[in-house]
Amino acid sequence: MSVLVVDFGAQYAQLIARRVREAHVYSEIVPASISAPEVARRAPGAIILSGGPKSVYEVPAPALDPGIYELGIPILGICYGAQLMARDLGGQVEATGAGEYGRTTLTRTGASSLLSEWPEESTCWMSHGDAITLAPAGFVVTARTPGAPVALMEDEARGFVAVQFHPEVGHSERGQELIAHFVHHVAGLAPTWTNTSIIEESIEAIRATVGEERVLCALSGGVDSAVAAALVIRAVGRQLTCVFVDTGLMRQGEGEQIEETFTRQFGVDFIHVKAAERFFDALGGVTDPEAKRKIIGELFIREFEAVARELAGDSHGPRFLVQGTLYPDVIESGSAHAANIKSHHNVGGLPADLSFELIEPLRALFKDEVRHVGEELGLPEEIVWRQPFPGPGLGVRIVGEVTRERAAILRAADHVVVDEIKKAGLYHELWQSFAVLPAVRTVGVMGDGRTYAYPIIIRAVTSDDAMTADWARLPHELIERIANRLIREVEGVNRVALDVTSKPPGTIEWE
Ligand code: XMP
Repeated sequence: MSVLVVDFGAQYAQLIARRVREAHVYSEIVPASISAPEVARRAPGAIILSGGPKSVYEVPAPALDPGIYELGIPILGICYGAQLMARDLGGQVEATGAGEYGRTTLTRTGASSLLSEWPEESTCWMSHGDAITLAPAGFVVTARTPGAPVALMEDEARGFVAVQFHPEVGHSERGQELIAHFVHHVAGLAPTWTNTSIIEESIEAIRATVGEERVLCALSGGVDSAVAAALVIRAVGRQLTCVFVDTGLMRQGEGEQIEETFTRQFGVDFIHVKAAERFFDALGGVTDPEAKRKIIGELFIREFEAVARELAGDSHGPRFLVQGTLYPDVIESGSAHAANIKSHHNVGGLPADLSFELIEPLRALFKDEVRHVGEELGLPEEIVWRQPFPGPGLGVRIVGEVTRERAAILRAADHVVVDEIKKAGLYHELWQSFAVLPAVRTVGVMGDGRTYAYPIIIRAVTSDDAMTADWARLPHELIERIANRLIREVEGVNRVALDVTSKPPGTIEWE
């Protein structure tokens, strides 16, 4: 049994879906336009209405098909979702002028099964302008805050709960408890969505789809393709061939680590395409960022195709292709998509005209779930917890022409940055931390001589989803250690700078 999270505002919906899954119940996000018959067809065990940026009285404010309230399915409304329930079921929502933003004290006002273990007062996180001022018939008001006379209301008979604060955010002290209580006790759903059950179900599904056929997988070095491949290996091990295209633009040791893991540990059929020379040849003299991306993306596909065609020449060639597509990529959301700032060539992705059938074993999973599944499948920590890396690799961190020499400088510099960040215990905390090589050289003095060499820029950011990011406030001592090592250990570098740009206005990568 799953929980449907109705999306009235994308960030909130994803966070809620993850919290439900942390309570070990599967959850999916659906657009606010979903109809009652469609909900009935999906037969969820519960529904959660997410928060959103609008007021219920704004026109046009996203609404819910009223038939959904009649399906006999427990519903939890959060923030905007709570106000929608209040308005739709006969209560009242008003712009009281007493909006609350941030931490607020929640006070219990009545007997509540949800709050039975809670103290009289606790801290919750609010973000609302309007407030519910009158609960609909059938509801009991069980908590309030200074700006929300109805911060929590419950209708036990129907299994309806409406909460004005955001239980899904970490600042709400006992928020996760509230979500888990709703899912397990109000809706009565058993906590059966665990890493083990995810793995078992995927293995069965892969076996059923693949049968005796052969499967191909492009490993990129990243977490997603590695976990997808590891799942396929568990399911149909010997039928899989993994292809790793070394573009010459990977991080230090990345190719060797992947080859080692997949050949030694998993004993799988592994093709290591050493294509670096061809990439450098194709990139010679090219400085335009979009042109570079295009060349890398297209050449990758050509290299991969060549292997795939060769394998397909054999009558027992692969029929299926494994893709590491994640849930956030497939959510059919009600929210408008962000503008396309850069052409994110899906390097490591699917050559569009190859006639494979796709297997996407991670289609239902969020990134953190993928990591835990990877750990359980025995992938090394270094692969499972690796920071995101762009498909075009170091190519988008080398401003100007990509040459063998400049790629070597950046790879060595990147290794130093990552190594020191790891030693400082910050690698997991940061979204990304890496080195950038600009297209200028500057004058310096080392020993007795004048140098004319490249600066390295340290780029470290915190982020939740890469849509926005802040530059990381690295400790000065750490920056000093990195800078000293960069100049001592990386030939061709004589200066170090720190990028203090957030996103926006900057992007995370330099190109
Ligand atoms: P930007 O630089 O746009 O990057 O702030 C956002 C996130 O996307 C990654 N990135 C890419 N990933 N192919 C990818 O698969 C690409 O072409 C690409 N360009 C950027 C980047 O590392 C960051 O995590």
